[in-house]
Parts: sequence; structure tokens; C-alpha cells
Amino acid sequence: MESPELPPVLRGGQPQGPRGQRSLDPHLDRYAERTAGMTASEIRALFSVASRPEVVSLAGGMPNLAALPLESLAAEVARLVATEGQTALQYGSAHGVPELREQIVEVMALEGISAHPDDVVVTVGSQMALDTVARIFCDPGDVIIAEAPSYVGALGSFAAYQAEVVHVSMDDEGLVPDDLRQALEAAERAGKRVKFLYTIPNFHNPAGVTLAVRRRAEVLEICARHGVLVIEDNPYGLLGFDNQIYPALRADDPDNVIYLGSFSKIFASGLRVGWALAPHAVREKLVLASESATLCPPTFNQLLVSRYLSTHDWKGQIKSYREVYRERRDAMLGALEQHMPAGCQWTRPDGGFYVWLTAPEGVDTKAMLPRAITKRVAYVSGTAFHANGFGSRQMRLSFCYPTPDRIREGVRRLGGVLQDELELLNTFGTVRPPALGGPQAPSPDTA
Ligand SMILES: Cc1ncc(COP(=O)(O)O)c(C=O)c1O
Repeated sequence: MESPELPPVLRGGQPQGPRGQRSLDPHLDRYAERTAGMTASEIRALFSVASRPEVVSLAGGMPNLAALPLESLAAEVARLVATEGQTALQYGSAHGVPELREQIVEVMALEGISAHPDDVVVTVGSQMALDTVARIFCDPGDVIIAEAPSYVGALGSFAAYQAEVVHVSMDDEGLVPDDLRQALEAAERAGKRVKFLYTIPNFHNPAGVTLAVRRRAEVLEICARHGVLVIEDNPYGLLGFDNQIYPALRADDPDNVIYLGSFSKIFASGLRVGWALAPHAVREKLVLASESATLCPPTFNQLLVSRYLSTHDWKGQIKSYREVYRERRDAMLGALEQHMPAGCQWTRPDGGFYVWLTAPEGVDTKAMLPRAITKRVAYVSGTAFHANGFGSRQMRLSFCYPTPDRIREGVRRLGGVLQDELELLNTFGTVRPPALGGPQAPSPDTA
């Protein structure tokens, strides 16, 4: 099998012009300072290579939509155009379609949240809610506390607003409250302004762990004591493999938590419909900020989601998603047991899309990635999920999209790649980064 040609970012090189010279952006001096934090995420750079059919991609976090009832959705779309076309194809309010906001309140009730539809703001995916929250709260230099690792899309938005991310550690029970306390105290001593804690309590992306229920009140109490808001990002909360639903942080502290939700993982990611539930005062600013960004979230998509919720068995659909993902999680965990070399450790998620793997000392997963892709398997290096360059021994493995057989094959290939890496490390003490032009094994005199 020929090696897939790697994009420059994976070969460790700069973008090249047609004759190999470095191409310089002629607009470089014109950009606002905040664009310095806007760099292509490792995930984006990976996309084109990892999506080739010969590569088993354990990298992307795309939901599996195979179980969707497409025919009846097509009929719903036709009905929507025929009966409500004039409204559905028109601008709407920045706040979101009222009937959908009422239904969102019912969805959140499953997690113990009691809310008023007026406090729900519909957004273009929860990604936009995240970006808007950072936009309304963060001045350059403000601190955001986030788990280590954290969601790459959130880190991207935070960087764009020039906020400083301070990471706090997690263990198998999620965010460690003592670490949170220490981080807040250290920031206060340093005279920094902490704006909020950004947390993904359930089936974490990328770590795969869930915040223990008994830790939740403590996390809320610490944040309240330090005057710090909590941003609870919960796109996977209804995807617990044992039908378990954890109580939302927002349920216990309506005044200090902004809750972000999404239809991307429980219905269809391409519709880009998410929401924020915010304390009353914050809601006003959120609406104004989203209005200035998009005027309004897409009316058509909101009405389609609304009709789907009222006419389809959406809870049954979530149940079938859970079953699909549980089977894939099992395939991945079984294959990891079978193929990973000694010294590797990984999390065992009970919901969501991701496993977080820690390789033995000395392995650099970012440097190893080109070699993995040559062996036709892709993952995301742990550094993508840290604002501080940490995570080089870790990787995120997604089990949401490939079939169980492809997952097993991908993990088998990955096991081989790691085994080779460890043998090189044992022999030479290091693994040479790949040279431009493609991955190479280190030669004994340079390794
Ligand atoms: C933790 C987390 N938050 C937010 C998002 C954004 O989701 P969306 O914008 O599709 O609602 C994702 C997507 O993968 C995610 O994993």
C-alpha cells in the first residue's frame, strides 16, 4: 500500500508555494491581533487525509446518522415548505422560534432543569453559543478555567477572544475540585480576572469521563464562592449507554450556570441547531450578540427540529443512537485490550463518542501521527485539546463513526504503530521527527 501523501502540517513543514518556497500571506500586516490565536486545528488539518477510504479514521467526531428515518424526514421537509413556507423561509428573531424554545425546555427537563422558554436562546449549533459567551464575557487576558484536556472548538473560540486558558486536571471522576480551588486561588493571587469555568460534565470530549454526581455541588460551590460563572457544555448528556441521565449542574444553580445544549448528537448535526440557557440578565446580552453575528438562527432548520420533536419518536431515536454507539464503544474497548502494547492506559466511557488514551513515557503522539497514517489509521493527538502544548503522550480515539469492524481494524493497526514506536524508543532512546517529504524511520546515527 502506498503512503498517503501528507499535508504540510502533518509533515511538520510550512505551507509551500508552487516551487517549494514558503508562501507568505500578503495581508499579514492587516489582520487584527486576535487572529494570532486563529490557527487551523489539528483536526481540520487531518480531515483530508483521514477521510480517505483506506485510512481508518478514529479522529473525527462525526455523529452516525445512519439510523435517521430519512424518508419521513423528507416528507416533513416537504410539508414544512408547503404549509409554513412563508414563515420557514423568512428571517426570524435572534432569540429563536418560540415553539422550539418551549420544546427545548422539555428536553432539558430530562436532566432535572426547570426553566422558562424566555431564557433559552437558540444558536447556530452550541459552537456558536460557546463563541458568543466568550465574546460577551472575555477581554484580552481574562482567564477561563477549563479541564485538561478540553474541547478543541471551545479552545479555538477562547483563543480568538485572546482569553488565557488555565487548565485543571481530571481523573476518572471528571474535574478534580481541589485543583479547581487551587487554580482559582492562584489566579486571584496573580491579580487575574477569571471569567468562567468551562466544563463538559458528561461523557467528556475528548476525555470520555463523567463528573461524579457527588462532585457536582462542590464544583458549583467553589465557583460561586470565587464569583466565577460556570459554562456547562452538554451535547452528549442524553447519550449514556446504560440509559443513565446525570443531573445538570444548571438544575442546582440557575443563577450562576449558563447551560449549552445541542441537537447535533441527538438528532442531526448538519441542521446546526443548538441553544444556551442563561440567567435572565445574561440572556439579553446573548440575544444582542447573536443578532449582531447572524441576525437570527436559520428559521427553516428550527421549525424542522420543532416538527421532528412533535411528530417523531425522538426519544426512541436517541435510544437507537445510544445502542449504535454502545456497540462501537464495546468494539473499541475490546480491541484496545487485545492490541495495545503494555503501558498504554485508556478511559472507559459510559456514554458519548470518545476514548482518551495515554501512551507510555517517551511516545509523542503528534510526531507519531504521520507514521500512523502511513499505516492507515488516524487519531487526534492530545496536544490539540490543550491550550498549553501539553498532551503529547495522549490521543483521542473516536468510536462514533466507523463500523465496529473498522474500529477493530483501526485499533489493531494503531497497536502495531505504537509497538513499533516503543521498539524504536527502546533501541535508540528517541524517535526522530519525520523529515519533509514523508515519514521515515530514524537512522541509527541520527536517532
Ligand atoms: C463538547 C462539545 N461542545 C460543543 C460542540 C459543538 O457542537 P454543535 O455546534 O454541533 O452543537 C461539540 C461538537 O463536537 C462538542 O463536542
